[in-house]
Amino acid sequence: EPKAHPAKAFRAAILHSLANPTDVGLEDSYQYFDDGVLLVADGHVVKVGHADDILPSLDPSVEVVVLENKLITPGFIDTHIHYPQTGMIAAYGEQLLDWLNNYTFPEEKRFADVNYAREVAVQFLDELARNGTTTALVFGTVHKESVDVFFQESEKRNLRMIAGKVLMDRNAPEDLTDTPESGYEDSKALIEKWHNKGRLHYAVTPRFAPTSTSEQLRLAGKLLEEYPDVYMHTHLSENQKEIEWVQELFPESKNYLDVYDQHGLLSSRSVFAHGIHLCDGECKRLSESDSAIAFCPTSNLFLGSGLFPLSEMEAKGIKVGMGTDVGAGTSFSLLQTMSEAYKVMQLQGKKLHPLKSLYQATLGGAKALSLDHLIGNFESGKEADFVVLDLHATQLMKFRMEHAQSLEDKLFVLMTLGDDRTVCDTYSYGQSVYNR
Ligand code: GUN
Ligand code: ZN
Repeated sequence: EPKAHPAKAFRAAILHSLANPTDVGLEDSYQYFDDGVLLVADGHVVKVGHADDILPSLDPSVEVVVLENKLITPGFIDTHIHYPQTGMIAAYGEQLLDWLNNYTFPEEKRFADVNYAREVAVQFLDELARNGTTTALVFGTVHKESVDVFFQESEKRNLRMIAGKVLMDRNAPEDLTDTPESGYEDSKALIEKWHNKGRLHYAVTPRFAPTSTSEQLRLAGKLLEEYPDVYMHTHLSENQKEIEWVQELFPESKNYLDVYDQHGLLSSRSVFAHGIHLCDGECKRLSESDSAIAFCPTSNLFLGSGLFPLSEMEAKGIKVGMGTDVGAGTSFSLLQTMSEAYKVMQLQGKKLHPLKSLYQATLGGAKALSLDHLIGNFESGKEADFVVLDLHATQLMKFRMEHAQSLEDKLFVLMTLGDDRTVCDTYSYGQSVYNR
């Protein structure tokens, strides 16, 4: 095979996760090199290690990029976000159901215009890159073209992305609804066109139980049967009024999750956003089916939805990734998302260690998306998706860093004060997709 891209080495402090700190303890959960080298070739990680160990072995032709006061980490993984909501982020005053009706649906109607959809997709992908996010699980709108242009723009940047067309056949404005049959056919066409094309994957995406009929959910289940490695992406148990509404709409189901379960929508490739208010039975089924939850702290606080019980979910064996949930989330930054996650845990009397946060936003996200054989850390052979973070990004951060002793201190300051200003460079598949 011809070498598309020559090997390149990046020298800086380097940090990546090896395993879930909750499983193996903090010490064994990460690898840190204060003077490290990340060697990349043909879009993949060749190796990572101390500069003293790696540099002498390098072929003299290999370019070494030296980065001062920088920290290299794996690219961030956002396990739940809506690209069409970029234009209505920060909408005032409502909780979930009114927020959807008053702000979200009117904006999503505009995606009937494919030119507008492309404009927003480009803006959205720029914003992900600016924030160091290299992989995301993404909602489109009900319009199949919204997902088509999203994949086109993601393909241009060679990003590992998962997206899907919204399925919604009731309880929404008429011009935002499909039918069970058209939703099935449009999804199928998008799967055939995009799923596993390059680094792209498809997610069957019923918005949430209230906006789908049982027939639509049944056909969603049929798609998953027909294409077993396609993802399933939806919302679950975010808001009390939402939960009551689901019980009214599906009186025969045991609980909210059971609606999805009865239609065959639970598997290791299923990701449920939020899952804040779950009963023991729901937790048991999530764990048994190896489904994942996307923890979206900025959104959960912004919409007043509640405090996600991360420790309890993990103790019950449920996979958890981090999500921004823009536009209900208030930041594209996984650093800001980690900072808010810390505060959500504080409000529950729990501590969220910075190394645990880093795991959740990288390798943990990759596991939640069943992509940990490809991305999430710097194991040899994985895809070279990484970010260069500036430890001196702002005056305050530079000053504060001088007072930080340990790696844990520095990392915690980075994620508490950091945002898009902290991201110097973003690399996808070994190539720069953003430079500040
Ligand atoms: N539940 C159903 N649709 C949505 C959405 O667009 N955002 C959030 N946060 N929750 C939802
Ligand atoms: Zn959402």
